[in-house]
Amino acid sequence: MRFNFVTKISDTESIKIPDEIKEKLKENDEVEILIQPVKDVYQIEGIPYGHQSVDSLDIQSVIDVLESDLITQGPKTVEFEKRLCEYTGAKYAIVCSNGTAALHLAVKALDLAPGFEGITTPNTFVASSNCMIYNNGKPVFADIQEDSHNIDPDKIKKKITDKTKLIIPVDFAGHPCDMEEIQKIAKENDLFVIRDACHSIGSHYKGEKTGNCKYSDMTIFSFHPVKHMTTGEGGAILTNNKAFYERLKLLRTHGITRDPDLMAKNDGPWYYEMVDLGYNYRITDFQSALGISQLGKLDQFVKKRLQIVKQYNEAFKDLEFIKSPKEREYTDPSYHLYVVDIDFKKINMSRADLIRKLEKEKQIGVQVHYIPVHLQPYYRKNFGYKEGDYPVCEEYYRSALSLPLYPKMSMENIERVIQAVQELKK
Ligand SMILES: Cc1ncc(COP(=O)(O)O)c(C=O)c1O
Repeated sequence: MRFNFVTKISDTESIKIPDEIKEKLKENDEVEILIQPVKDVYQIEGIPYGHQSVDSLDIQSVIDVLESDLITQGPKTVEFEKRLCEYTGAKYAIVCSNGTAALHLAVKALDLAPGFEGITTPNTFVASSNCMIYNNGKPVFADIQEDSHNIDPDKIKKKITDKTKLIIPVDFAGHPCDMEEIQKIAKENDLFVIRDACHSIGSHYKGEKTGNCKYSDMTIFSFHPVKHMTTGEGGAILTNNKAFYERLKLLRTHGITRDPDLMAKNDGPWYYEMVDLGYNYRITDFQSALGISQLGKLDQFVKKRLQIVKQYNEAFKDLEFIKSPKEREYTDPSYHLYVVDIDFKKINMSRADLIRKLEKEKQIGVQVHYIPVHLQPYYRKNFGYKEGDYPVCEEYYRSALSLPLYPKMSMENIERVIQAVQELKK
């Protein structure tokens, strides 16, 4: 006999078989537990600045893998990579444990001699430049454009030296950089381009989908929960270059191969060789299943983000103390973040006080993206960077604030944020 009962996913940690079923059970009876789709598994305390959008289909896809034989390095990871290629138009995809690992591997795959320099933006998360240090290189920054807050191609040109080997442009907040111009500079100076698109999956540049690698040697995604789609932790490298792809596959798994063509000898079915110094940067198969499920909804997620952006833009357009983000005409941004520029003098409040007030009185979470990387103590100490080195970025940082933006925001959430901002003019 087969019994089934329905439970909520939130109860699965301690599933108890109801007494009325228990009483009827005989020794060989099977119990099938049906997981009921639930809306409010993830109760958000107030409104955070970012949040994942995970539904019961996503959860079921993870459970399916956990109930299968291979929970890491299985078929879902292969499928996730295939789907990312289909979505972006890139020839090859490597998924790995997070965006930082993806950046580390991408720079490593270039095989640069120690002491190389690479140029990136100071307006980014530290991972965009740390990846060069991991590979014995020196991160050099080029200041940003005032309007897009992205790296300024003219300033990249001024930072190129004999040691420069690569450029890492970052599509800040989901706004693509001027990739054609950056690629031109790279070609003229024999440099590689690794596009950090951790903020910009789902965006377009001059009609080209981000990730197709038309303007870069490799492109990086992150699947951290605040990003457009999530695998918990996770990242990907997209490329059209087969040699990079093969090297990246090796580096992701300790530099170990079982491919007879790559081994010096082959002693038998157990045999493998470590032919390079790699890492364990693999992603699990249940994370890949979540990635596949989320990728299927990515365009919907982006659409919802754009709707919220439209509402914010409309609501703030006449407020003189706040400037909404600007879009360059060649981009279709996917808006990972909604970063506003606030004149704190006009509202008679410091940024720290505003953040405390929004959190305490309105339960609204906000963030600051980013503290300029060159001003981090590690960078000051090891590379001699100091205040004043990148004035446009530093000026931008003083007034930047990221308001809540994620697909699960309800109308009430959006209106609450708008109202809280509008009240500041009083
Ligand atoms: C621009 C940028 N690059 C790289 C990363 C690193 O990604 P992950 O958190 O997946 O390691 C992040 C993460 O926030 C990021 O914002």
